Amino acid sequence: MKKQRLVSLPSLKDAAKRNPSESINYLITKIAPSAFLLSWGQGKSFCIRTYGCQANVRDSETIRSYLLAIGMHEQDSFDNADFILFNTCAVRENAENHLYGELGQAKDAYNKNKDVIIGICGCVMQEEVPVRHVLKHFPFISLIFGTNNISSFYSLLEESITKNELIVDVKSNSYQVVEEDQIPSYSRGSKVSAFVNIMYGCDKFCTYCIVPYTRGKERSRKEEDIINEILCLKEQGYKQVTLLGQNVDAYGKDFNNSYAFAQLLEKVAKTGIERIRFVTPYPSDFKLEVFDVMQKYPNIMPSLHLPVQSGSNTVLRRMNRRYNREEYLDLVKEIRKRVPDIFITTDIIVGFPNESDQDFEDTISLVKEVKYDAAFTFIYSPRPGTPASKMKNDLKDEVVHERFDRLKVLVDNLTEARAKSFENQIVEVLFEDTSKKNNSMISGYDRHGKLVHVKGDASLIGQIKKVKITESRTYSLIGEIVDE
Ligand code: 5AD
Ligand code: SF4
Repeated sequence: MKKQRLVSLPSLKDAAKRNPSESINYLITKIAPSAFLLSWGQGKSFCIRTYGCQANVRDSETIRSYLLAIGMHEQDSFDNADFILFNTCAVRENAENHLYGELGQAKDAYNKNKDVIIGICGCVMQEEVPVRHVLKHFPFISLIFGTNNISSFYSLLEESITKNELIVDVKSNSYQVVEEDQIPSYSRGSKVSAFVNIMYGCDKFCTYCIVPYTRGKERSRKEEDIINEILCLKEQGYKQVTLLGQNVDAYGKDFNNSYAFAQLLEKVAKTGIERIRFVTPYPSDFKLEVFDVMQKYPNIMPSLHLPVQSGSNTVLRRMNRRYNREEYLDLVKEIRKRVPDIFITTDIIVGFPNESDQDFEDTISLVKEVKYDAAFTFIYSPRPGTPASKMKNDLKDEVVHERFDRLKVLVDNLTEARAKSFENQIVEVLFEDTSKKNNSMISGYDRHGKLVHVKGDASLIGQIKKVKITESRTYSLIGEIVDE
């Protein structure tokens, strides 16, 4: 068994603290590998498994670029990999359980090659109970770090290799925004479309949600750093950026500018990058100026993911969402007035503690009223440490599942009907990848974010083409390129 060195362990209690007098510290740092890592990495391979949201995808891209910079190459499987990393998601219990299943498989890899370095990072590692569980049940792990110290990755990796110890270094809170002086390369999963962080963390503390504890205080990147990154991506040929944050429309609140998101969006539009998207806004932080900017610049895509979570005011209050049903519906009306062809999607939680029949009916009626173009529906999953997990809950599982199924049918019908409305229409598609199922097909997204497949080859990747839709399925469209 490896010797365990606990540099710092997570604490949800500490993570819940926000010190208003602590200002954000912007750190420009050079992240460069040591001579040791440059030599260790040559010719070695790594495998990264990423769970959860785009924030994790972006973090994995950053770590991937660190590993590529020391001469390693990426592979899809654990077999013979020299470094395996799990970037974990804590938002619902099933993602956490999936991790433990995968760690079992990683154990086989370790049994075949005792030199393999296995690391775990991401949101689950920001919680003390899972970290203790890993220490007890998966002692072959070499490295545990969190969401707030990715910039220390090289030194952590080097220590775990040279000392042959299990190192745990998880910072519970951060008031830092780290900008890299010289990024090894803007390594992204795609050569066409890139995620760009505009802010980190969340201060909303919705009662069901673990994210404010695992990703720390809401803090914005400086506008110039974001714009420079986007200009760099554009120069490299990227066609689309997606601005990322837990509540993008709270961007700049930490430097006392509630209008900063609209201003940032306009500056991003002016870079001339062909497509701009953003996730995720929080309904009550929206300034209507954002929609004016969306309307003014055709390179901002007409789609909006606007999580509602519930249609019942009682439940919204108990969730600590800071808007009510009426305000949400008014916002949707305003958006549709300004950007008429906008695609609106949402997140909905079913079975929040003691959600009544009437509460659920309120959600159904809100979904019917908004007529969402698509929606992600989730069964409430108690997250230890959150206020909702301590709420009394007499709801029976079967009632929750019945509600969930009913909502899913409604949402799928709306999604299908909207998909059908695309038939025989001409849409603009940015092609991103060959189809996973059929390599004579190529896939991309229309301006609304709808997935479109056409016959074609990889030479189309990165191009925007007009496509006539010939067939619709619930979650995707099939079409053919029309000559211009
Ligand atoms: N249980 C179920 N769904 C959750 N989400 C966040 N926390 C939970 C939870 N404890 C959902 C919300 C959020 C989305 C990313 O995940 O709908 O918008
Ligand atoms: Fe979680 Fe609410 Fe923050 Fe979204 S806004 S990350 S649901 S706490």
